[in-house]
Amino acid sequence: MDLRGEVAVVTGASSGIGAATARELAARGAAVVLAARRADLLEAQAQAVRAAGGNALAIPTDVADRTQLAHLAEHATAAFGRVDILVNNAGAGWSRPLASTPPAELIGLLEVNLLGAMLLTRTLLPGMLERDHGAIISVGSLSGRVAMEPLYSASKYGLRGFSLALRRQLRGTGVSVSLVSPGNVRTAMTAHVQARLPEPEIVARAIAELVVRPRREAVIPGKHYAIAWLEQLLPRTADFAYRRRHWSPVLEEETATWKY
Ligand SMILES: NC(=O)c1ccc[n+]([C@@H]2O[C@H](COP(=O)([O-])OP(=O)(O)OC[C@H]3O[C@@H](n4cnc5c(N)ncnc54)[C@H](OP(=O)(O)O)[C@@H]3O)[C@@H](O)[C@H]2O)c1
Repeated sequence: MDLRGEVAVVTGASSGIGAATARELAARGAAVVLAARRADLLEAQAQAVRAAGGNALAIPTDVADRTQLAHLAEHATAAFGRVDILVNNAGAGWSRPLASTPPAELIGLLEVNLLGAMLLTRTLLPGMLERDHGAIISVGSLSGRVAMEPLYSASKYGLRGFSLALRRQLRGTGVSVSLVSPGNVRTAMTAHVQARLPEPEIVARAIAELVVRPRREAVIPGKHYAIAWLEQLLPRTADFAYRRRHWSPVLEEETATWKY
């Protein structure tokens, strides 16, 4: 899979899945623009890509800030002439009871996990349509297939709905829209999970493949399709499984242990 000549923007590229995706796309020849808030880490990731022979530019960006999103799009386009691939990956986890979640934090999570992706897509899409060429890949979650933490699941179900519907809207254009829905993988977001988990590179490779062979949705690793279908076909059984693993009562302040 040769991505030489392609220009990719990856949000949330300072760590985890986003950093692995930037490395993967660059290894396949794409020029990559890395975006996230932590400027030092972001530059270090860009430097690592360059050290491996890739072409990378770090643009510190808070995806919850519209002005910074516009700057990201302008700066990336000015540097490389266009954007062909957008990976909407920036995101944060959430596992507090809704009743004790401050409203400002609720809005803040949706701004990062959902609105940021929608607005950046909205900003870059016209250029892709003009050139009749582009790939938009959003990083959802198994929590966008299986209802778990109310706020986190709302953001990921929302992102999933956005991606699936946009894919239909753009059918027949040269712009593909794909969704990748990972289960738990080993990143900062799952630092609390004791079990052995796959590394973020498994998702990065899936994203690179979706650029070349777009799909409606790829659940990664594939074994998680079972729980996604259980939720859809047998929701009562899924309720029971959820209660067994997620025993803490609704008002308890504890962080839940089953979080994707
Ligand atoms: N790890 C998993 O098991 C798992 C499973 C399913 C889905 N996901 C999804 O995968 C994506 C990446 O998460 P990860 O697991 O790789 O965790 P991670 O290592 O914590 O990465 C999260 C990334 O998002 C960035 N980010 C957070 N808030 C941001 C903001 N306001 N503006 C710009 N960037 C922001 C972070 O960078 P800065 O802090 O530097 O801004 C960081 O680069 C998320 O969308 C997450 O929901 C992860």
